Amino acid sequence: MNHFERRDGQLYCEDVALADIARAVGTPTYVYSAATLTRHFTVFDEALAAVPHRICYSVKALPNLAVLRLLGDLGAGFDVVSQGEIYRLLSAGLPTKHVVFSGVGKTAPEMAFALEHGIHSFNVESEAELGLLSEVAASRGQRAPVSLRVNPDVDPQTHPYIATGLKQSKFGIPWGRALPAYDLASRLPGIEVVGLDCHIGSQLTSLGPFLEAVDLMVGLVETLRAQGHRITDLDLGGGLGITYADEAPPHPKDFAEAVIQRTRHLGVRLLFEPGRVIVGNAGVLLMRVLYEKASDARHFVIVDAAMNDSIRPALYGAFHRIQPVVLRPGDSRVVDVVGPVCESGDFFAKERALEPVAPGDLLALMSAGAYGFSMSSNYNSRPRAAEVLVRGDRFHVVRDRETLADLTRGERVA
Ligand code: LLP
Repeated sequence: MNHFERRDGQLYCEDVALADIARAVGTPTYVYSAATLTRHFTVFDEALAAVPHRICYSVKALPNLAVLRLLGDLGAGFDVVSQGEIYRLLSAGLPTKHVVFSGVGKTAPEMAFALEHGIHSFNVESEAELGLLSEVAASRGQRAPVSLRVNPDVDPQTHPYIATGLKQSKFGIPWGRALPAYDLASRLPGIEVVGLDCHIGSQLTSLGPFLEAVDLMVGLVETLRAQGHRITDLDLGGGLGITYADEAPPHPKDFAEAVIQRTRHLGVRLLFEPGRVIVGNAGVLLMRVLYEKASDARHFVIVDAAMNDSIRPALYGAFHRIQPVVLRPGDSRVVDVVGPVCESGDFFAKERALEPVAPGDLLALMSAGAYGFSMSSNYNSRPRAAEVLVRGDRFHVVRDRETLADLTRGERVA
């Protein structure tokens, strides 16, 4: 459920007309709903109420300070993958004690930064990383709390670019090397083992692959404990999918119930790292139609947002619904919705039936909260979009639209 709905033919975010935001802030603009963010987090959190747990929101999905602060105030922890994401949390005035640090390429300075700020744990993805982390921690007179991320070789049945738990993927410690890796960890002076972690992929739309991974992880926790390792955390990653078109992903409640049923006997603390399911349907990208153009083969609707603002259609062939903000009378037409960037991959929709629109009209790219702004760039020297957070009948600009001066900041003529 989300808080984007039509009233008298006009699209609203909560109690604010999207057209009013476009008038005040311009386009392209990302618009997020605070009520939707709150609801998505709360539903997930309450579904786990019966067991010790922490939901560590995956910052990469939508790292705006206002969103981090809103979720942090609700009790979220955070899954980060860089020093920059920790810096964002600090900038949002949030504590770092519930942070888990994932990623296959952490550098020594990043490790030191995380240790300095006292994060909850590192999700370590290789034996080599374990060795470096031990050195960095020991040199600071610390022991780094660690969960090992293992790769269970489970097919998440999702887009190949976002499948992470297959043995061909770069992520995690290969399943067959998990036990020796834990033995190594227990011998290293700068490491304190606290748990076990996996993340098999993103935009999963069925429970099967999750539960296959959970069963494997449960077995591994039992084996590790039998060998004397102290495993108090079981981190099952993120990956729960959302509805972009007609997908019917598991409800967080059903997902949580199934996980609790399988893990309760272990008495572990469950950690999750959801990103998309919290923010995906809590955001839209607001854009304006610039031109229409017909060729013999196609009818193009050219808009003022582009692949630099949201790269998901170009990169993954991703589907996002597109709706006019204000409806006009007339029949739908089959169109391509494209941006101004100089690439044929710069499209939001191809051969899509779209309600009638004319130059000057506003369109909303739906389900754009996750991996929208966070993957945006300045390609074609386009300043990045503004971001707006709606709360009830008020809206706040939570990131200014970039200026031309922002585009060249730090550059100079040699
Ligand atoms: N934990 C880890 C270790 C991850 O790598 C990810 C996402 C998550 C959690 C959060 O996954 P989520 O709950 O959002 O599925 N840019 C792509 C998605 C990339 C996902 C990367 N890792 C897209 O736009 O679909």
